Amino acid sequence: MSAVNDPNSKIVHRYDDIEEEDNQLPNWWLFILFGTILFMFGYWLVYHTTHTLQDPRTEYNAEVADIKKARLALTPLSDDAISAVVNDPAQVAEGKLVFASTCAACHAQQGEGLVGPNLTDKFWIHGNKPSDIARSVTDGFADKGMPPWGQLLGQEKVRKVAAYVVTLKNKNVPGKAPQGDPLE
Ligand code: HEC
Repeated sequence: MSAVNDPNSKIVHRYDDIEEEDNQLPNWWLFILFGTILFMFGYWLVYHTTHTLQDPRTEYNAEVADIKKARLALTPLSDDAISAVVNDPAQVAEGKLVFASTCAACHAQQGEGLVGPNLTDKFWIHGNKPSDIARSVTDGFADKGMPPWGQLLGQEKVRKVAAYVVTLKNKNVPGKAPQGDPLE
């Protein structure tokens, strides 16, 4: 109890025998405190003015986009790669142009079939997964009258035209009689 009355005592408050002293804060502690405050101004300035530091979400999205691109480069004619194109109207429109100039002669303007099978019905000879269609286009069926287009068009155009053919699925344009098996 006497400490409270002692003029040299640093105890400023006592409650339930808990003594509170008013000590000078240690310099290392103050250094960190003011240091972080100063750092905040610098960081804030750099972050918002130079944009050299990206926020984690942007950085993450950029990395995911890079990975997708890399995968696409490895498997340009996979179901996923073609499905991605199906969801991009601009690329489907390019595929439609390729179809009109390269395929319509045998499959007709709307894909309803002439020499080649109707691509709008649910009957398929060689499968109807996006990758199946890309394979049909790439390799062709020389013995049945469809040339291979892989070399001539290149993978990018094959991907686009295959995506366009995917969009024709089940449009059921009246045309050539069904060939092959009914597929979902
Ligand atoms: C010279 C005529 C001709 C041209 C040009 C042609 N095809 Fe074909 N295509 C055929 C024939 C014939 C078949 C049937 C092959 C068979 O009977 O096995 C066929 C089959 C296909 C199939 C498989 C259909 C199924 O039922 O499985 C697809 C897909 C296809 N063609 C897409 C295309 C695309 C896309 C193009 C343009 C890049 C194209 N074809 C250009 C004649 C052609």
